[in-house]
Amino acid sequence: MAIEATVVIGTGTMGRGIAQVAAAAGLKVWMYDVNAAQVEGASKAIEKSLSKLVEKGRMEAGVADTARANLQTCSSLDDIDWSKVGIAIEAIFENLDAKVALYKDIQSRLKPDAVLASNTSSISITKLAALTDRPEQFIGMHFFNPVPLMSLVEVIRGIQTSDATVETVTALAKNMGKNPLPCNDSPGFVSNRVLMPMINEAAFALMEGIAEAETIDEIMKQGCNFPMGPLVLADFIGVDVCLNIMEVLHRDLGDPKFRPCPLIRKLVDAGRLGRKSGQGFHDYRK
Ligand code: CAA
Repeated sequence: MAIEATVVIGTGTMGRGIAQVAAAAGLKVWMYDVNAAQVEGASKAIEKSLSKLVEKGRMEAGVADTARANLQTCSSLDDIDWSKVGIAIEAIFENLDAKVALYKDIQSRLKPDAVLASNTSSISITKLAALTDRPEQFIGMHFFNPVPLMSLVEVIRGIQTSDATVETVTALAKNMGKNPLPCNDSPGFVSNRVLMPMINEAAFALMEGIAEAETIDEIMKQGCNFPMGPLVLADFIGVDVCLNIMEVLHRDLGDPKFRPCPLIRKLVDAGRLGRKSGQGFHDYRK
């Protein structure tokens, strides 16, 4: 099934990025959030991102105009023409109950053959699928931050996900200019199963005084050719998000090697959540 229109639900960093990329690819997009002020903020951020991409020669001006024309913001589900929607992409905060409550709200509006995708970074796709009215048409579509710049989409199939749904979403991701790669449902999927323990270990290295935060980051940048050191990346992702994912890995895989570093927990307790709060492993207040 070729998809021509989508609803992106949640207008945080990920939702706004997904909406932008889908609209630039020519899809009609309704970008929805219950919080009208947040929708407004997302709209401004998308405009800034489009202008920057054009200014830097990464996007043609005509494509940015297409994105603007295709994007419609809304804070009521009644403002969406559900008959046109081939897929709803959920990108709200990482809470199972909140996600399931949202699915209950939207699934009666979605066409019977429409796909429901979650951008969750760690919650089980199989479990979420089982709590919807369409487990075979439920799938993980995991984008990476910053969405307009990162090419990968991890396509995660739960045990109930049908081949047709995987094919539809793989084609959609390609149509959005992304590179979809498949994996099966497992805590953290592939990306966070591998990335988060590295960030966690960098936090242990800092906590144990092996090196300063800046040095740990530079060693991993220069020694492993990473674009960002692991602690800068944790600040970029959100220290709270990293803690949440480590907790999921630890709980669901039951292996002590995934225990969250106490320093990560301490930073979260202190409200040092990374760039978004001005401080994390590094200080962004200057
Ligand atoms: N739209 C438009 N421009 C954007 C942007 C956006 N959304 N986000 C950043 N930019 C801009 C920056 O503002 C910057 O512009 P200026 O130089 O004018 O300030 C520019 O992009 C950076 O562009 P560069 O060509 O210099 O790009 P770079 O080579 O420095 O790469 C990067 C930037 C892609 C972010 C790179 O540093 C990188 O790959 N970092 C790692 C990111 C990463 O690992 N992301 C995954 C996180 S994990 C995740 O998302 C999943 C999860 O579940 C936790």
